[in-house]
Amino acid sequence: MVRTRFCEVFGVEHPIVQGGMQWVGRAELTAAVANAGGLGFLTALTQPTPADLAKEIARCRDLTDKPFGVNLTILPSITPPPYAQYRDVIVESGVPVVETAGFNPAEHLPAFRAGGVKVLHKCTSVRHAVKAQALGVDGISIDGFECAGHPGEDDVPGLVLIPAAAGRITVPMVASGGFGDARGLVAALALGADGINMGTRFVATVEAPVHDNVKQQLVAAGERDTELIFRTLGNTARVARNAVSTEVVSILGGGGRFEDVRELVAGTRGRKVLETGDLDLGIWTAGLVQGLIEDVPTVAELIDRIVTGAGQLIRGRLTSVAG
Ligand SMILES: Cc1cc2nc3c(=O)[nH]c(=O)nc-3n(C[C@H](O)[C@H](O)[C@H](O)COP(=O)(O)O)c2cc1C
Repeated sequence: MVRTRFCEVFGVEHPIVQGGMQWVGRAELTAAVANAGGLGFLTALTQPTPADLAKEIARCRDLTDKPFGVNLTILPSITPPPYAQYRDVIVESGVPVVETAGFNPAEHLPAFRAGGVKVLHKCTSVRHAVKAQALGVDGISIDGFECAGHPGEDDVPGLVLIPAAAGRITVPMVASGGFGDARGLVAALALGADGINMGTRFVATVEAPVHDNVKQQLVAAGERDTELIFRTLGNTARVARNAVSTEVVSILGGGGRFEDVRELVAGTRGRKVLETGDLDLGIWTAGLVQGLIEDVPTVAELIDRIVTGAGQLIRGRLTSVAG
């Protein structure tokens, strides 16, 4: 059992967060995390319209009576989704917490505040964390270079990023990127965080709504089997290495432009990987922590294993080496 101020502020039993995940953050997974005492987030943009998000929130409520939240990822786009409408659904639905990511959340904070929705802002640098804290967010999720998805362009891994952020952040902070087991949770606490956020590890659980081939690939893959795409475009993303990711890196590395890879990286292709289990159909997101994943447990087994193991580690090995 590990309790921190994160649990008090966000009203959960364990300081373990399931971050937003496009095509994965659906009611089945988020409710399972909530039922196991963690903080799960539905992913707003996985739902085609704001009205569908309202339905998904209702579906999640049918599966759990524990608190859960919604992730709102704001990314640069030529034709942006109706962010304000998704935001309003989040506020009107009465979910207690939102995970903002991808961009400065300033524009949306007044509405969240007025609706009593707590904001956990996910970012990849100390300077952005400090800025979000100054804007008045309730918590920070600091995402290191190890993470799946967008690690930013600074390439600072968690071992330095987490304590650097902890030195400047006074609101509750969870460490993200590369976490998957009890050792990670204890390390995050030692580095000054109040808990952990996980993405990749939750994809390899029974309840994650993705094809079993994807889960088995996360078990089989090592820590060297991810790839950083879009580096030359200043929009780096860490993804599972496959035929498509390698082709994208080769085209962009050879001076190609986004237009040259647009079709290869289409979200619809990535979605098909998760649905059909054909791992080379498109780009799909995974982090370095896949090298530590050895099985596909239920969410409850996973969370119990992490918190029980963390307690044992603190009382056992760490106490014994403290002399
Ligand atoms: C399949 C997948 C999809 C993701 N999609 C999103 C997303 O839409 N929005 C977001 O903020 N983060 C997204 N992430 C990042 C996670 O929320 C989390 O920050 C990240 O996975 C942490 O690193 P880890 O994978 O090492 O645990 C995604 C991660 C994965 C694995």
